[in-house]
Amino acid sequence: MNISSTIKLNNGVEMPLLGLGVWQAKDGDETVDAVKAALKTGYNHIDTAAIYGNERSVGKAIKAMGVPRKDIFVTTKIWNDDHGDPEAAFNTSLEKLGLEYVDLYLIHWPVKERKETWQVMEKLYKEGKARAIGVSNFTIEHLTDFLKDCEIKPAVNQVEFTPYLNQKELLAFCRENDIQLEAYSPLVRGQKLDDPPLVALAERHGKTPAQILIRWYLQQNIVVIPKSSNAKRIQENANVFDFELTDEDMKNLGSLNENLRLCWDPATAPL
Ligand SMILES: NC(=O)c1ccc[n+]([C@@H]2O[C@H](COP(=O)([O-])OP(=O)(O)OC[C@H]3O[C@@H](n4cnc5c(N)ncnc54)[C@H](OP(=O)(O)O)[C@@H]3O)[C@@H](O)[C@H]2O)c1
Repeated sequence: MNISSTIKLNNGVEMPLLGLGVWQAKDGDETVDAVKAALKTGYNHIDTAAIYGNERSVGKAIKAMGVPRKDIFVTTKIWNDDHGDPEAAFNTSLEKLGLEYVDLYLIHWPVKERKETWQVMEKLYKEGKARAIGVSNFTIEHLTDFLKDCEIKPAVNQVEFTPYLNQKELLAFCRENDIQLEAYSPLVRGQKLDDPPLVALAERHGKTPAQILIRWYLQQNIVVIPKSSNAKRIQENANVFDFELTDEDMKNLGSLNENLRLCWDPATAPL
């Protein structure tokens, strides 16, 4: 495994396992510099969203670095207020990113219009404007309902997933249905990096707590998108390919679950 390692999605598209998240990176220099630092480090996958307000900066950095389009995987997401005209929302994202297609387009949140939106996304997929389409913040119940009606199965479900919110049933469901799980807020938004069992494991491996967490996802073939706006930490988060967690380490991390949810709870979204 290395920084370019990919996982094959259910439509055959290869998705890099490690990406840079840019939620709360400010539009302008902060995002441009973070994306440039990531690309220089060797990341080839960026996760943004219309609501993050920084798609233009993501596109600007990609262009400035002169990365061949096929060597970069870009995800963006349709925001809740935009389901009235999903195609217009998609075209706006594409224009801001300065791209001719995105690699992955996600429904950001399971709003009640999600099935109608999905039909438009299926069309965009068939037209080659999105190489893969998927969902975010979908529970097992949302997915079960969705799978009854969709023509094209979601390729990805991007959800909050950490050792402290170890959603094993959701992971198993996604695997059974050939939907790739992607972990957001994988560093627990920085809130558990001093947790003694995590720190002890980091010391044993001569790595940082953030690196231990990132490795935990990678070793489960879970796509992981740590966010940082700091070039040193962007490098740190990618310096995870020179060690391996043991089966026992993996189990111990998995047992830290405390159902700690830092973002929104999709159980509150309409079914
Ligand atoms: N689909 C959704 O609804 C959804 C929701 C939330 C997040 N996401 C996606 O997932 C990405 C990641 O999640 P997130 O941004 O919530 O949180 P995260 O990646 O778990 O944590 C980010 C925080 O950790 C800090 N950090 C980064 N690397 C570090 C390191 N090595 N050591 C110490 N601190 C470090 C960052 O600060 P610095 O920037 O100062 O380094 C930032 O405060 C988002 O950016 C977004 O792309 C999606």
